Amino acid sequence: MKGLKLIDIEENKTIEGQIRRGQHKQNSFKSEEFRSANRISLDLTNMFDTPEETNISRKDVESLIPKVMKAHQMLKDNEGDIYDADIPMTGWQNLPSEITKEHIEKIKSIVSDLAAEIDAFISLGIGGSYLGIEATFCALTHGYFNQLNKEQRGGAPEIYFLGQNMDPDYFRDTLDMLEGKRIAINVISKSGTTTETAIAFRIIQNLMEKNWGDKAGRMILITTDKKRGALKEMASQKNYRSFVIPDNIGGRFSVLTDVGLVGLAMANIDIEEFVAGFRNMREIAMQDDFWQNPSLVHAALRYASWNAGKKIEVVATNAVSLFSVTKWMEQLFAESEGHDGHGLWVSPLLFSEKLHSNGQIIQQGERNLIETFLLLQQHDNSIQIPKTDDSLDGFDFLADRVLDMNFINRKVIEGTAYAHFQAGVPNMTIEIPQRNAFNLGQLYYMMERSVAISGYLLGHNPFVQPGVEAYKQAIFALIGKPGFEETARFIDEDLRKIKRIKIQ
Ligand code: PA5
Repeated sequence: MKGLKLIDIEENKTIEGQIRRGQHKQNSFKSEEFRSANRISLDLTNMFDTPEETNISRKDVESLIPKVMKAHQMLKDNEGDIYDADIPMTGWQNLPSEITKEHIEKIKSIVSDLAAEIDAFISLGIGGSYLGIEATFCALTHGYFNQLNKEQRGGAPEIYFLGQNMDPDYFRDTLDMLEGKRIAINVISKSGTTTETAIAFRIIQNLMEKNWGDKAGRMILITTDKKRGALKEMASQKNYRSFVIPDNIGGRFSVLTDVGLVGLAMANIDIEEFVAGFRNMREIAMQDDFWQNPSLVHAALRYASWNAGKKIEVVATNAVSLFSVTKWMEQLFAESEGHDGHGLWVSPLLFSEKLHSNGQIIQQGERNLIETFLLLQQHDNSIQIPKTDDSLDGFDFLADRVLDMNFINRKVIEGTAYAHFQAGVPNMTIEIPQRNAFNLGQLYYMMERSVAISGYLLGHNPFVQPGVEAYKQAIFALIGKPGFEETARFIDEDLRKIKRIKIQ
């Protein structure tokens, strides 16, 4: 049998986009036409007055407006519970307007010199030092990026992520993908001490040094705190090139810093367009008119839902490419809101897939949920539905009416939003017009501002993560890290008291 040919299937527009970006051709993101076609909107049609006791009404939200506006002003003025070790952690709010053209050009130039010498690039990091890069990369590139050839990737190297877990099999499998390739890495850690990232770095650094000796150093980028931490120290000792995570920006708010920009530039994503998206939404989200400001409305809706007894926010998308973005949202909201018994549990889902599992419990389980859809309105590709000889499945009408997969995939969200509303699940839809860096930038800024407002509404500091720090310390102690002997003894004593229950 001969191999499959893609007869009557159009060229893949995602690949065309990658090739265009590789030739430094930009989207016309400065034009009014592009901007009005790429305006993210928040559809609240199915949010209010759902048929269940814990529903929320427009009135509930309106009664919150004074509180929300106060929070909005406090955030602008850098006031309130926003400090981490004496630093107000709101550097992200004006960052979009502070990034200079020179800075972007500098990153692009370092990255393009490096990219010319390598076959694969590995981004090492976890949490905020990982998710935003992966989310944006997946949102804007081909689903099988590393399996494409270099030309189809627009000249970019293969892109991998490590340091986000401690699974040796996953690590070993990734090493197989790297064997025989010229690699460069960017190790990202603000603290410089996170176990998963540090261990991954050690292993890769060791391999690189064994292969290329002193020359390996040129292929190692460090992204960390400006002054402090183990990585900073190592970068200066070993002369590694380093990038900075600003003091006043925490991990999950850092995608627009060098944390995100370096890796995204390596994948040929237009970081200038990305910045422009942040800037655009910053203008919108700084406005004082509540109903014109999607960050404020989004924050108020979620807070009203939590007040009404909702516990879970399903964040579902109809685009495989945006699934990682729902995971970025999961982290942003869970780590910022989950303090002092507060917060909605964010559950990232991909539809249609999960409609055939979680879909049942959303429709008929406990009414403790709200739902936020990330609806991609226009996919890169439009795949036509072919006609069959007999239409046994009854779908010939789609071919007759020239309706494509993109059309049906929009209806997957529209239909689900309607059904879930009827079943008592308040839901809102964030409409994302197309897959581009401008829209991603807008979405991220809108969410960052929303979760910051949420902190004020809930009454805690959303910019720290003592719960995450607690697990980091426990791991240090349990693996026997010097300096953590006392915590180890304490945990050990506690564990001894626990009666183990195991059923075999
Ligand atoms: O949002 C956060 O602050 C965290 O998710 C951190 O990014 C994550 O814990 C990684 O920390 P670090 O960059 O210090 O390795």
